[in-house]
Amino acid sequence: MTQDELKAMVGQAALDHVVVGEIVGVGTGSTVNKFIDELALMKDRIAGAVSSSEASTARLKALGIPVFDCNDVGEIAVYIDGADEIDPRGHMIKGGGAALTREKIVAAQARRFVCIADESKLVDVLGRFPLPVEVIPMAAQRITRQFAAFNGEAILRMRGGAPLVTDNGQHILDVRGLMISDPLAFESEVSQWPGVVTVGVFAHQRAHVCLLGMATGVRTLDFG
Ligand code: 5RP
Repeated sequence: MTQDELKAMVGQAALDHVVVGEIVGVGTGSTVNKFIDELALMKDRIAGAVSSSEASTARLKALGIPVFDCNDVGEIAVYIDGADEIDPRGHMIKGGGAALTREKIVAAQARRFVCIADESKLVDVLGRFPLPVEVIPMAAQRITRQFAAFNGEAILRMRGGAPLVTDNGQHILDVRGLMISDPLAFESEVSQWPGVVTVGVFAHQRAHVCLLGMATGVRTLDFG
């Protein structure tokens, strides 16, 4: 089975976690795109969606799914999103698609986080995937030096020869060389550095369930 097929499989399996009649939180990325395509098949049975990126919003709307502002809805039942890495306790690295800030906001508004991922994303310790960190541009160099003290090499993410600009008008640093053995402490620490908008460790907003796409089918990891 190709990685694309594994993503499609978990995108479809995620429909079982959508609460009928309610608003669903929708993440960002190629796995979530598969989920959105499936969600369109049951759009008449949900109240709509809140979205974590302009890209997902556009895809949802194109398929006729109403998208609400987070400020106009209360707590949502479930948030469904992918991950770049997930560990055996449901902690994740996210932000490969540069949408980490809105992803963390929507995740914080949801009672349950259902992660959908192919099996390549499961790791023992977070850090092999370069950690995305959204930063205020004027702080990028100092934050780069702060990561160097953790043996992390931070590189400014570029697109088309210029720094990538997020949906929030900020920049992304991708940090290599980290081994994040205590994700909760790491997230708390880095989140306090001046100029950090969002660190791509999702430990405080960890997954409750992961639907992992494997050649043998969908494996459900329940983190409680
Ligand atoms: C976007 C994300 C994505 O969830 C993550 O990058 C996984 O993406 P994909 O499903 O394309 O592998 O965090 O900011």
